[in-house]
Amino acid sequence: MEKDIKEVLITEEEIKEICKRLGEQISKDYEGKKLFLVSVLKGAVVFMADLMRNITCDCEIDFMAVSSYSGTKTTGVVKFKKDLDINPEGCDILLVEDILDSGITLSYLKNVLLQRHANSIKVCTFLDKPANRQADIEADYVGKVVPDEFIIGYGLDYNEKYRNLPYVGILSPEVYSKK
Ligand code: IMP
Ligand code: MG
Repeated sequence: MEKDIKEVLITEEEIKEICKRLGEQISKDYEGKKLFLVSVLKGAVVFMADLMRNITCDCEIDFMAVSSYSGTKTTGVVKFKKDLDINPEGCDILLVEDILDSGITLSYLKNVLLQRHANSIKVCTFLDKPANRQADIEADYVGKVVPDEFIIGYGLDYNEKYRNLPYVGILSPEVYSKK
């Protein structure tokens, strides 16, 4: 696995600091509100698990699943695979994502949730790759801005692999150009 990584982008130590910073900010902003963390499977699972343990105000959690990727390219079409179990009406939703890239996935999910009468909807993304944005969406909380490269680890995959890496790296282009 390690040989497929061109460069380590975010170390485990830095990941801890990012989660602490975001958790503290979110805890302040959502004190006294009905915070409902909605994570997007599967990539955001690792970040969600760390972020929620840095949040000190009351909150509920749930998961949605969509897919739009094939290999390293977005297909531009979002497929809905799993809906929420909890009704978000009246809640202050915070969408928790692994990476905001084209923005197509998050703007689709934001629109779906807007129709469910949530009190507010904001976005927290671990990584932001602004170079590739196609949809008109920005995150309210950002862990780190990353360059326009294919990123893996800490939940992020390439064809379902590398999610278990405890740090974030750039995938060596040789891995996907071989295909
Ligand atoms: P978007 O719809 O293009 O913003 O991308 C949304 C999803 O695509 C993310 O939640 C990731 O699961 C996946 N994705 C986007 N860029 C990358 C990347 O560099 N590495 C791994 N997955 C990515
Ligand atoms: Mg993914």
